[in-house]
Amino acid sequence: MSVSLKGKKILIGVSGGIAAYKTCELVRLFKKQEAEVRVIMTPSALNFVSPVTLSALSGNEVLINMFPDVDPEKSTQIETKTWHVYTGMWADVFIIAPATANTIAKLVNGIADNFLTVTVLSSRCPVIVVPTMDEDMYINQVTSKNISKLKELGFWVMNPETGELASGLHGIGRMPEPETIFDYTAKFLENFNRDLEGKKILITAGPTYEPIDDVRFIGNYSSGKMGFSLANASSQRGAEVTLIAGPTLLETPRNVTRIDVQTSEEMYTAVKENSTQKDYVIMSAAVADYKPKNKFDGKMKKSAGDEISIEFTKTTDILKYLGENKKDYKLIGFALETAGEIEYAKKKLSEKNLDMIVVNNPKVEGAGFGIDTNVITIVDKNGNATPYEKMTKFEAANVILDQLQRL
Ligand code: CTP
Repeated sequence: MSVSLKGKKILIGVSGGIAAYKTCELVRLFKKQEAEVRVIMTPSALNFVSPVTLSALSGNEVLINMFPDVDPEKSTQIETKTWHVYTGMWADVFIIAPATANTIAKLVNGIADNFLTVTVLSSRCPVIVVPTMDEDMYINQVTSKNISKLKELGFWVMNPETGELASGLHGIGRMPEPETIFDYTAKFLENFNRDLEGKKILITAGPTYEPIDDVRFIGNYSSGKMGFSLANASSQRGAEVTLIAGPTLLETPRNVTRIDVQTSEEMYTAVKENSTQKDYVIMSAAVADYKPKNKFDGKMKKSAGDEISIEFTKTTDILKYLGENKKDYKLIGFALETAGEIEYAKKKLSEKNLDMIVVNNPKVEGAGFGIDTNVITIVDKNGNATPYEKMTKFEAANVILDQLQRL
């Protein structure tokens, strides 16, 4: 691939896998394109490749130790630089190849016990993780879950290849060839933009739970994936993101400030407190329209009859409040409709003083709650509706972010 990587700052993390020998070639490819390369190795990686090789190829000292070797007999000076912060800030992109199951597990859990993991925690640049291991380890449920969590956290994951493994077995888990990782990174850097740098965005996500009594609630099937993808994409594009989340098990994307709420009332309060000095407010939460009128104190007992009825009352329409009290922000609403989507969306747009509305129909294949894809139509303030093909929620988030900057 012929792209200019001249002057790009590439940080490469090497963890302890046999494929570490391929990383030497990867370093050489970046250097050939005049990128600046720094390498961090975990102590286990030293079993597979020499730091002397990586240092010679990168033209820089290889970082391994968390703490400088201080021998009081030889040195009177103590190194006080916080190298991990410096290194994390220096990089345009951080590639971890190979990334072992152990290093991945540490990243997901915020464990910072070596220079590589510490640097990941303190870095703000995009991190590309290249899981590389034997097939059994790769398909192990714990590793699969950890890789899903990596994606939720906002790491970029490059899938391993199928082929001959170090164990002699054939299967998935091979590290892609250095040229493939190089091309992926070059393409990534070409498309990566920080166009939301300096922007402040408030995003709501997930369902709300409206209590019936102390142990029961009325909720909905929203997983929060669309809103969390928006938070992830906005943060990667440089925005300062506040995410108000209803109950969900999703991980908080890197560098996002999260506020957890349960009820529509709590979401309303959190939105009011956090909507000042924002450039964009995106209401992607599936807020309940109604809540039980009276919450029963304690746990409701079964009664003798076959039926019960619960009286409901309307919740506060947070989106409407935001439209009526608009400050400096552009306001983006969501609409979930199963029929007459565009007409309803246009009505909501004008009634709630929105700048844009994202419509989806959960009945369409590839759209809806809990899944990783969506099929959206964006309706702008002038009523122009643009439909999009099915795409991942992360891609849909990026389309929404492209469009809102045209407002
Ligand atoms: N919303 C909100 N406060 C509520 C209910 C919904 O802010 N109490 C927001 C949602 O976050 C979403 C938008 O309103 O951005 C649309 O929600 P939706 O349920 O699709 O529409 P409704 O306004 O509830 O209208 P309808 O019931 O007619 O579909």
